[in-house]
Amino acid sequence: MKYIDHGAGGDAGCMKLVEGPAPQPGPGQILIEVVCAGVNRPDVLQRWGRYPPPPDASPVLGLEVAGRVAAVGAGVTDWKVGAGVTALTPGGGYAEYCVAAAGHALPIPPGMDFATAAALPETWFTVWANLVDLGRLKRGERLLVHGGSSGIGLVAIQLAKHLGVECIVTVGNEEKAAFCLAAGATHAINYRTTDFADAVKTLTAGAGVDVILDMVGAPYLQRNLGALRRDGRLVIVAFLEGSKTEADLMPIMLKRLTVTGSTMRPRTTAEKTAIRDALAANIWPALAQGRLLPHLFARFPLAQAAEAHRLMESSRHIGKIVLEIGKP
Ligand SMILES: NC(=O)c1ccc[n+]([C@@H]2O[C@H](COP(=O)([O-])OP(=O)(O)OC[C@H]3O[C@@H](n4cnc5c(N)ncnc54)[C@H](OP(=O)(O)O)[C@@H]3O)[C@@H](O)[C@H]2O)c1
Repeated sequence: MKYIDHGAGGDAGCMKLVEGPAPQPGPGQILIEVVCAGVNRPDVLQRWGRYPPPPDASPVLGLEVAGRVAAVGAGVTDWKVGAGVTALTPGGGYAEYCVAAAGHALPIPPGMDFATAAALPETWFTVWANLVDLGRLKRGERLLVHGGSSGIGLVAIQLAKHLGVECIVTVGNEEKAAFCLAAGATHAINYRTTDFADAVKTLTAGAGVDVILDMVGAPYLQRNLGALRRDGRLVIVAFLEGSKTEADLMPIMLKRLTVTGSTMRPRTTAEKTAIRDALAANIWPALAQGRLLPHLFARFPLAQAAEAHRLMESSRHIGKIVLEIGKP
């Protein structure tokens, strides 16, 4: 099969299209003939050597794919060869064939194209696990999402809308602000021109928000703690601007705050299967009705994976970037 090899890593130019043997599905796994793969910021980190794959995962980049089931491993009864499938993978998505745990796969919603389906798993698994399971986000609450126009951020806006949650976002420019508002955010703060903590205070009449989804890290910690109301939850999914800082932790005690976070890839197979089941019950029916669709910003052929990464690193994109790999 053809796949992207990033060698010893480095800038985007390290990614080359090469040929090698296709993987084989082990017990409980399916082999997917990949039609499209989603590009995610963690792929960029992995390429730079800052997000190593677990020992049992493919070293090839790519955390989500959509395609057709090409073979099933021992013990797999719920997937048939030829079925349209979208799956969360621990790696290996930038390739013509990829294996995934059968329990981390979902059917492609009726009428949905492969590119759209490939853009679903990584963001939905991550946002559900962090906002619903860890963040305990519920109807009637207020949410602040940093990086509102990211793949993750736009799904957080959609989930908020779906749950009946007011959603404030931060973004880096006015175009992204307008996009997030059109997508369902109630307010968009340009963090380059406005202090987000001051803005949240004004927008909530001093009350603060119930939950914050953060990907910026160190320089936001103190202001995030300040922007939370009593019993608020700060959920951190990345440290784009660093993970080390000094902070006054007093608000955690005085407001009974929870500071938490998680990363998807090292979770156990059973944990990810539980998230898959929750998405199948709560989100897939809406997708089948044409709601909660991801915004595809750009598509690139597999051979141009480097261009896809350069676009992501520029942060010019809004929403998802997808690689086109096989015949639809
Ligand atoms: N923990 C997990 O399991 C998990 C899983 C998937 C992704 N993630 C993380 O979630 C984040 C989003 O992932 P993605 O794939 O959706 O990536 P993405 O689309 O590239 O989004 C990154 C966003 O961060 C914003 N940003 C970049 N630098 C910033 C800064 N200094 N301050 C504030 N905002 C900044 C950018 O928008 P602006 O122009 O607005 O700055 C951009 O929208 C990434 O950091 C990724 O590593 C975590």
